[in-house]
Amino acid sequence: MPLYKPDHTGLHTIAQCERLTGEGEPERQPEGRSGMMGELEPEGECVSVDTSVPHIARVYDYWLGGKDNFAVDRAAAEQVMATFPDILVSVRAQRAFLGRAVHYLAAEAGIRQFLDLGTGLPSGNNTHEVAQRVAPQARVVYVDNDPIVLLHARALLASRPEGATAYIDADLRDTGTILAQAARNLDFGEPVAIMLLGVLHCIPDNDDPAAIVARLVDAVPPGSYLTIAHPASDVATDQMAASMQKYNEHVTVPLTARSHDEVSAFFAGLDLVEPGVVQLHRWRAGTGHQGTGRELANYGGVGRKR
Ligand SMILES: C[S@@+](CC[C@H](N)C(=O)[O-])C[C@H]1O[C@@H](n2cnc3c(N)ncnc32)[C@H](O)[C@@H]1O
Repeated sequence: MPLYKPDHTGLHTIAQCERLTGEGEPERQPEGRSGMMGELEPEGECVSVDTSVPHIARVYDYWLGGKDNFAVDRAAAEQVMATFPDILVSVRAQRAFLGRAVHYLAAEAGIRQFLDLGTGLPSGNNTHEVAQRVAPQARVVYVDNDPIVLLHARALLASRPEGATAYIDADLRDTGTILAQAARNLDFGEPVAIMLLGVLHCIPDNDDPAAIVARLVDAVPPGSYLTIAHPASDVATDQMAASMQKYNEHVTVPLTARSHDEVSAFFAGLDLVEPGVVQLHRWRAGTGHQGTGRELANYGGVGRKR
């Protein structure tokens, strides 16, 4: 498996990584693996990256116009685009929803702590950037299990000095580890916004995603929030089913789109912020926003813990 190594300037391309290490070097696990970065420097670490199967973080990066993806990711991404061209609108709408939700949480709900699970590769308006524009003291802990995201974590750690960011390399299913490590940077006695955008569909029903959400919500105090973005199975039904099936033929971690009822059920026991669980381009889009009349197979919602 090829190894990749971060450079000293932070963000770098995979092409630069290849030049840095090349293939065939002995595999070396970075010290930050299965651990937390924040105070820890990721510099000088190598991560092994499986380029033989598509990975959702890299496929998503391709759809967003990024460069941190491999041929196998691009092929899978193109196959989905062929069966479901709206995927490009959908992923951009998801990033815009992330921005609006974080802005709402920081500016209107007064949230100062964020736990962002399934972070993805750094893109425009990452959670800490939106939150810290409103409240420079905001603290954000990112969690992802993809080595490529770990490799780029430096860009997620560029906090404003008044606040803090940290990165945990862990699987969403391992809530015990995540919560224990997040407690080093977040005060679980104060409200926390749990962000699960574009990640619960990576957890099959057999792994009980509702129980994962419940464990996270149980760990935060009243006044905390849960934000979810999730591909829809009951909008553009045939196209979505065909594109998911195509994608799942090539991957080790299959994706599961879910219905409005199934996504709403993740918010059980919480008070939904208006307008509830909706196609996410319509969530607090603002009166001047174009394109909310179209159908988009991606749900979003925000709920508050009583
Ligand atoms: C589609 S991207 C979403 C990125 C970002 N949240 C957004 O909405 O723009 C999904 C991310 O979830 C991560 N992911 C998928 N399954 C995961 C798991 N079981 N544990 C932790 N992260 C996971 C992937 O590595 C990827 O970076």
